[in-house]
Amino acid sequence: MAQRRLLVTAALPYSNGRLHVGHIAGAYLPADIYVRYLRQRGDDVRFICGSDDNGVAITITAAKEKTTPQDVCGRYRARQEADFDGLGIRFDIYGGTHSPECVELHNRISQGFFLETHKKGLFTKKTTKQLYDAQAGKFLPDRYVQGTCPFCKHGGAYGDQCEDCGRSMDPLALIEPRSTITGSTPEVRETTHWYLRLGEFEARLKVWLESKRESSGDEPAWREATLNFALGQIKASLPERAMTRDLEWGVPVPLPDDPDAAGKVLYVWFDAPIGYVSFTARYCERADGDWKAYERWWKDPACRIIHFIGEDNTVFHALTWPAMLMAEGSFQLPSAVVVNAFLNERGPDGAMLKLSKSRMGDDSALWIEQFLKGYDPDPLRYYLTSIAPENQRGAFEMREFLARNNDELVANLGNLFNRTLTFAKKYFDNKVPEAGTLADVDHELLAALPAAFERIGHQIEHFHFKAALADLMQVARSGNQYFDAKQPWAQRKTDLAGCGTTIHVCLQMIRALTTLMAPFLPFSATKALALLNVPADGALAWDPASARLTAGHPLGEPEVLVKKLDIPE
Ligand code: 2FM
Ligand code: ZN
Repeated sequence: MAQRRLLVTAALPYSNGRLHVGHIAGAYLPADIYVRYLRQRGDDVRFICGSDDNGVAITITAAKEKTTPQDVCGRYRARQEADFDGLGIRFDIYGGTHSPECVELHNRISQGFFLETHKKGLFTKKTTKQLYDAQAGKFLPDRYVQGTCPFCKHGGAYGDQCEDCGRSMDPLALIEPRSTITGSTPEVRETTHWYLRLGEFEARLKVWLESKRESSGDEPAWREATLNFALGQIKASLPERAMTRDLEWGVPVPLPDDPDAAGKVLYVWFDAPIGYVSFTARYCERADGDWKAYERWWKDPACRIIHFIGEDNTVFHALTWPAMLMAEGSFQLPSAVVVNAFLNERGPDGAMLKLSKSRMGDDSALWIEQFLKGYDPDPLRYYLTSIAPENQRGAFEMREFLARNNDELVANLGNLFNRTLTFAKKYFDNKVPEAGTLADVDHELLAALPAAFERIGHQIEHFHFKAALADLMQVARSGNQYFDAKQPWAQRKTDLAGCGTTIHVCLQMIRALTTLMAPFLPFSATKALALLNVPADGALAWDPASARLTAGHPLGEPEVLVKKLDIPE
């Protein structure tokens, strides 16, 4: 297998809150599964993430918590990092657009990006009317203003985006706007900003997006909903968008000779995606002392860039960011933007509830911090992947989570490990028995393993994580059916060699499953290696030939692979 180079990113979470299961299902878990698989396959991959520290969301939280934006970012960044770590979501760097470690490089690269676009004449400098809170003495960009969405009539739309229908917003278009600082009705005042003429990129964006409808070579097709949404926006035409804001917190607008730029910062959605670049640069600086080595990832077409995001980020990743990249001109475009829909919660009465700060209690188990106090990460990774909102919104239900752990992970996958290993311990001296003479059924089962590597790998390559996991569980099921059909407990009494064959085949199967499950269930895979007494180093290569046990190999002490969970009455 030829080694490929890939840069994978997951949306930068705002560092003003905790993470819940919806965030994880949306972007981080599928990205982690993908990266783990690529690493197992031997690809040269870097996984980039970090916090989105600039913008209004953070200053609002700081005001609410009566502290500074720095403090808010630092605290939540640490908590989010701990959440990711607890779930086994492992980035090569977890930066922060305003973190002490990254801010300098981030500002430099973001400002360079802005200046290059400015030099090319792609911004329009315009003085326009904006909403202004006279009580607070501030303009009201983005989340500082809320009102009714003019498109879908959702009541809580923000000045930058309606979270309900996903459309980006002109705050002046909001119906009955009010300031989120003071609650007052804003007045209209003039201010000057730099607008990116997105319309000039419509034709190129359209051709580029259309080219993503079908897979070609190593490039998987994008999800249909993503393309339809983005192309629909182009059809309706892309407006100019202000890429600067009247704010103190953020990346200063780098036009020192222009008095109109004083006291202004770049729009957070301008600098946030550049965070993917600046964190790569910071990673390169750490790894080999040369931040400029980021170009090897961002400016070399031999490297593919894949962004994982939730549906509310689609506009920015499928349209604005590629337009920014086209405008700047020296970076390559992402090869894929992988978008998951929202995850809701299904309440006990079947009602669909939004996962949100305002609704969920502080001690809800759907907050990752809370969840990890009571449960292991793999059952959650399993459940979230099995209900992944890949093509439509999904729903988390606590009882279903518990039941599926017990009925699927324990009863199927865990059971195959357990019965095979206990049998080997009891009757074969805890060693891999000889394969003996293979009958057709034995051959078939062994031959199915390389095919499973091929199929599941293909599904993951095409971002069909849910299907890949279902396939994996089907492989385990076929192992259990084989075990049941062969009845080694009866064979043992009449045909010990034949019984050895059965257990040999089952051991090969659980050895292969160990590698196949690793992207999804990394903690269980590590445990499985210990149960099989296989040294971890290189053991998980995505290669059926290396996932084999030799006859006579001594096994580890049997132990349950997956724990049963209590389901409350
Ligand atoms: O929706 C969000 O949480 C944003 N902070 C995502 C930003 S992704 C990227 F562009 F930085
Ligand atoms: Zn709307």
